[in-house]
Amino acid sequence: MLLVTGGLGYIGSHFAVVALQAGYEVLVLDNLSNSHANVKEKVEKITQKSLDFIEGDIRDEELLDDIFKQYSIEAVIHFAGLKAVAESVAKPLLYYDNNVSGSLSLLKAMQNNKVNKIIFSSSATVYGEPKYLPYDEQHPTNPINPYGYTKLHVEHMLRDICTADNAFAAITLRYFNPIGAHPSGLIGENPKDIPNNLMPYLIKVANSELPYLQVFGDDYETRDGTGERDYINVMDLVEGHLSAINYLVNAGFHVFNLGTGKGTTVLELVSAFETANNIVIEKKIKSRREGDLAKFWAKADLAKKELHWEATTSLLDSCRIVQ
Ligand code: NAD
Ligand code: UFG
Repeated sequence: MLLVTGGLGYIGSHFAVVALQAGYEVLVLDNLSNSHANVKEKVEKITQKSLDFIEGDIRDEELLDDIFKQYSIEAVIHFAGLKAVAESVAKPLLYYDNNVSGSLSLLKAMQNNKVNKIIFSSSATVYGEPKYLPYDEQHPTNPINPYGYTKLHVEHMLRDICTADNAFAAITLRYFNPIGAHPSGLIGENPKDIPNNLMPYLIKVANSELPYLQVFGDDYETRDGTGERDYINVMDLVEGHLSAINYLVNAGFHVFNLGTGKGTTVLELVSAFETANNIVIEKKIKSRREGDLAKFWAKADLAKKELHWEATTSLLDSCRIVQ
């Protein structure tokens, strides 16, 4: 059985779908701080399989200990975490507590119960200001906000455990910009507040829930002056995790970028979104958003070579709103 922390969230729920479909038994631990309990039924509806769910917090070591004693967990897929960059700047301790202390509790409980395989959701944000592009896994890490530091701290904990225990296997997956949803339309990215990220914001503009898109800066050194990112379809992303599970037979600490290897500017994404959904998006050019990098995208070759995985969904398909 797989223990999936944060498994009712955006990426975790998509992972739960593909993991159940691949024949794994899945136990989700989620405190519902950024998700809804009804996602469990939605995942079950899509897969026609049952999803075990415990409402609880990864910082609750006693609960974790009980879980590892009660269930036979072969590996942990660790999605649980807070991810809003601006909030992490305003409330750094909340982020260190949830993301770093939470991961520490999880790792202690794993160690106490001799569970020694984990896949961790990290982020391209650990690289910071690009020294060169595309970012490969050897690019220096230099986060520019507390959220990024929490991800890097957890990576370091995993690296150090693997050094101390040569049977431990830890895979850090550095996601680029996940977009899109399961083709059923039942699950997807559904932030409770006004979205920070481009794609959920675009969807709200398309649904007339927000009046227009603010394009944060058109004077960057990119093709059209707007920010450039590597948008990866969430179904491709979670398939990458299935490949990573097979790779856990290799003890040690491993890092893989999960991206497409291609950069897309804000205006290019808006244009693809308009074509995919046959609509026109109202937009206004605004000043740059504080803390934004001009451009970054992944070198995705290592995951292809080692995990035998690559992103295959087109940008147009990723932009199509499913209902
Ligand atoms: P999400 O907020 O939709 O999902 C995270 C889930 O974890 C939520 O269901 C939330 O309730 C749960 N959670 C948070 N803290 C918890 C705790 N202490 N105990 C138990 N459950 C807790 O976010 P997501 O987009 O699905 O991201 C999943 C992971 O991937 C996160 O770790 C995030 O930092 C990382 N990541 C996301 C992106 C992205 O753009 N979405 C990019 C890079 C990395
Ligand atoms: N943008 C807009 N308008 C918006 C939102 C975003 O123009 O309303 C622009 C941004 O300026 C940027 C691009 O769209 O150029 C992408 O912005 P997102 O907020 O969607 O994504 P980021 O690359 O800024 O950050 C996201 C996550 C980070 C994560 C990073 C890499 O928020 O936590 O992807 O995985 F680290």
